Amino acid sequence: MGPKRVLLPAVAFLSLLFLAGLWLPEVQLSACVRGGRPCGWLGGRGETAPPERDGKPPLLSSRLPLPRHGTLPPPRAPRCPGQGFQISRLLAAFRGCVTPEGEILLQDYLAGWKELIKLIDALGAAFGLLARETQTKMAILEGHRSGPHAPHYRTLQAMVAFELRRGRVGLRVLPPDQPPSGSRTLLRLHRALKWLELFLGKLGRSGAEEDPSQLCAEAYQAALARYHGWWVRQAAGLAFLALPSRRELYGLVCAEGEKEARAVLLDAVGTISRVYNITQQLYATRGLLELP
Ligand SMILES: *[C@@H]1O[C@H](CO)[C@@H](O)[C@H](O)[C@H]1NC(C)=O
Repeated sequence: MGPKRVLLPAVAFLSLLFLAGLWLPEVQLSACVRGGRPCGWLGGRGETAPPERDGKPPLLSSRLPLPRHGTLPPPRAPRCPGQGFQISRLLAAFRGCVTPEGEILLQDYLAGWKELIKLIDALGAAFGLLARETQTKMAILEGHRSGPHAPHYRTLQAMVAFELRRGRVGLRVLPPDQPPSGSRTLLRLHRALKWLELFLGKLGRSGAEEDPSQLCAEAYQAALARYHGWWVRQAAGLAFLALPSRRELYGLVCAEGEKEARAVLLDAVGTISRVYNITQQLYATRGLLELP
């Protein structure tokens, strides 16, 4: 029995704490009671994801192959049959989500996240709940996209402008009968996107002797840790210890050999980074980066 195995119960327990704080660390759980029962780990208002229609991914099924912007043919994105996570779908969605005007299409953004969730799932059991919580965030945004104000939720830019205009962003606390704001919900995804971007980048660039757990922890330090309290940070550190080996992680992108795996990873990082930067710029300009 390796030390990782001994750690598992601790990881399982602490990852709950981790997840409790990952997205909405500032919300007090006492403020979150619904029908006399406390609601989810995130301190949301009992948000639950709607079931997928026909058990099929609602976003991607009809979208491949996606249009490619720009002139360069993207590097080969390998497909791996039989695996849930497909880097090719991730790339297609995040490439397709930026319009020529530099706006971000929410449908494609969420399609990209749908693939990222599968990646998070593949990082191990300790991340399973995080994947579920991410789905909940996506479901909130999907709800807006198909709700009464759907036309305002086609792009990120339109959504933020609309919610600001209507006072729906939730700069303070929203009244309980209002759905969580899209801007605030997306900010949680946005912050986590940075963590994944940094982690994949480190994985693509680091020497073979560097431990993925360490790299993941560094990415977390740089991207997410400052939003979390002490306990959550400790728990996160433990969750990273249970990460798959470098070889297994490279296997997830289904490349032929290490060199190609690195190239594919860095290609993904560039694509994600572009989307991240546009979002970051928008939130910064609107003064929304520190939304509670
Ligand atoms: C995103 O912004 C960072 C920091 O400003 C920069 O280093 C990076 O090259 C940008 N990425 C893209 C794809 O523009």
